Amino acid sequence: MSRIAYVNGRYLPHKRASVHVEDRGFQFADAAYEVIAVRGSALIDEDLHLKRLHRSLGELRIAAPMGDASLKSVFREVLRRNAIVDGALYLQISRGQAPRDFPFPQGVAPTLVVTAQRKRGPLAKQVEEGVGVITLPDIRWRRPDIKSVSLLPNLLAKQQAKEAGAFEAWLVDRDGNVTEGTSSNAWIVTAAGEVVTRQADTSILNGITRLGLIGLLAREGLKLVERPFSVAEVKAAREAFLTSSNNFVLPVVSVDGAAIGNGYPGSVVRRLRQAYEGHVAAQGAAQ
Ligand code: PDD
Repeated sequence: MSRIAYVNGRYLPHKRASVHVEDRGFQFADAAYEVIAVRGSALIDEDLHLKRLHRSLGELRIAAPMGDASLKSVFREVLRRNAIVDGALYLQISRGQAPRDFPFPQGVAPTLVVTAQRKRGPLAKQVEEGVGVITLPDIRWRRPDIKSVSLLPNLLAKQQAKEAGAFEAWLVDRDGNVTEGTSSNAWIVTAAGEVVTRQADTSILNGITRLGLIGLLAREGLKLVERPFSVAEVKAAREAFLTSSNNFVLPVVSVDGAAIGNGYPGSVVRRLRQAYEGHVAAQGAAQ
């Protein structure tokens, strides 16, 4: 079956799906995006993703290409045409197509691309055994809270992690504190049993998985602390994990080659992964 993409009002085979050479997304990375997990045909926490999309578009002063009801029907049509029950939905919205010039063009319609992939989360082995991360300086611009397609520093760091045999790179600010991963949020469980993740200010992307998990912590009887934490704290942590729409809740068992805790996924992360899977399954069942 050939994959189908939505591009500016048309559903096209990927081979023929493209944007203009002078699209500002291509020329300037002048675009926002979202990635939404799909399970049991449900778009997980779709409304929260749309809320974050509108925030990104607002900060970038890019107009929404259509209303939310229309966007939602495009999402469903892309899933239907690609026969995707479990996977991920991607959307990119650029400022549109115009002769190359830095200031915003006037009277230009935004470009909307929606695609889907059958890819599903981490491997069972990664969930059971956990993954390793390396730490690298956070060289991104100062607004990673905006989900923009300008991802070069993230790609460079992810490639470095891959070449080092690690799953993810945790980015470190000038004070020696972890901000987040290249495509995930970072968490630790301290010796005192507190669950710590960085506060969602302008220094990180406020992950939708992060928000969903925060909603489940109290029910699990766990104390959340939102604050910066250092690489030394990661090394001394009882447990660590990362969250993202692609991986949900994934144990992190080493940092820069040093084991975290006993080097195996701990009881808190295993419980939290299960709780989050319940949160996801409930939405699939409601379809
Ligand atoms: N990345 N931080 C960054 C820098 C991210 O790129 C992502 C998501 C997250 C986690 O956000 P969420 O829980 O909403 O997926 C945190 C997506 C999956 C990507 O770019 O593929």
